[in-house]
Amino acid sequence: TTPLRLGIAGLGTVGVGIVRIVQKHADLLAVRAGRPIEIVAVSARSKTKNRDVDLSNYEWEDDPVALAKRSDIDVFIEVMGGHKGPAKDATEAAIASGKDIVSANKALLAIHGQALAEAAEDAGCVIRFEAAVAGGIPVVKSLTEGLAGNEITRVMGVMNGSCNYILTRMQDAGLSYEAVFEEANQLGYLEADPELDVGGIDAGHKLALLASIAYGTQVDFDAVELEGIGSVTIEDIHQAADMGYKIKLLGVAQMTGRGLEQRMSPCLVPDTSPLGQLQGGTNMVVLEGDAVSQIVLRGPGAGEGPTASAVMGDVMDIARGMRVSTFGQPAKTLRKARAARAAVS
Ligand code: NDP
Ligand code: HSE
Repeated sequence: TTPLRLGIAGLGTVGVGIVRIVQKHADLLAVRAGRPIEIVAVSARSKTKNRDVDLSNYEWEDDPVALAKRSDIDVFIEVMGGHKGPAKDATEAAIASGKDIVSANKALLAIHGQALAEAAEDAGCVIRFEAAVAGGIPVVKSLTEGLAGNEITRVMGVMNGSCNYILTRMQDAGLSYEAVFEEANQLGYLEADPELDVGGIDAGHKLALLASIAYGTQVDFDAVELEGIGSVTIEDIHQAADMGYKIKLLGVAQMTGRGLEQRMSPCLVPDTSPLGQLQGGTNMVVLEGDAVSQIVLRGPGAGEGPTASAVMGDVMDIARGMRVSTFGQPAKTLRKARAARAAVS
């Protein structure tokens, strides 16, 4: 049988996690997909860095764009990060050379997702990104597959583990925002640019992607009303607790008479609710549909294993012949729907 051949750009937390799964579960993956899953080539900035994983059987590319163009790979996996530069260039190059794409890069997809999806459609490729939203939680698959028979009425959730860690720790230890921020930074929980986390930007990227999938609209990060957690004080947390509430960085997307509303901001949630009970770096997404009512998904939103698990779910779908992009419908249909709405309003 024909193997599915992978090229992995990025060998950090997520990239190494993918290599480990492919190596550890080679037999299981082959049985489940009906064909072998093979890593052919990899790329990162440093060829000599010790990554605590055996890369000796794979071709090395210094340049992720060269990796993306290789004729001996079927799927280009982008786990470098960043919404411009090499991640964007390599993803575009992969599409131009007819590769399917699996990405964990929420920033790139939230900002350039529509253009990339249209390019992929023109090239006959699929672009899938379960890992970009809520790490290991299969929230995208829940929307596009399990809930495909529903009109989605609301999507909400806690989608940034670092912010949830900071808010939970402030509450539990009675510490100031500044003290816990410093602690989280020391522990390596925050992005290289912490403003992406505490400014709500990372969570906003995820909400914009989910909203687009749920409501069949073009991904529109600029339309997300954003407020981070930097101004939440310990007094706010204590006052909320006195009233039986917790403060969470909560994202909500819903279709209203005025169009799609997307908000990511610190909110009061009842202490005893599933969202109120959410601890530490965990994520939770609540999906509401006209037929299903409500489902709640909870799990690890980040980390090597969980994020690589989500990437591999997409790889397996492609291996089994799934030709649907994560946005769930043709990208050009989304563009036409937007144009039609703009003409009406
Ligand atoms: P890391 O910073 O751990 O790894 C990034 C990797 O990309 C490194 O191996 C780095 O090389 C490589 N890289 C960076 N720039 C270049 C370049 N110009 N050319 C070649 N390689 C390059 O990131 P993560 O693994 O944490 O994240 C990867 C992606 O997954 C990001 O988009 C992130 O947002 C997303 N994601 C991450 C999650 C997580 O828990 N970590 C959760 C969900 C999504 P080198 O090692 O040599 O420096
Ligand atoms: N910084 C992100 C978080 C990483 O804390 O949730 C996972 O997307």
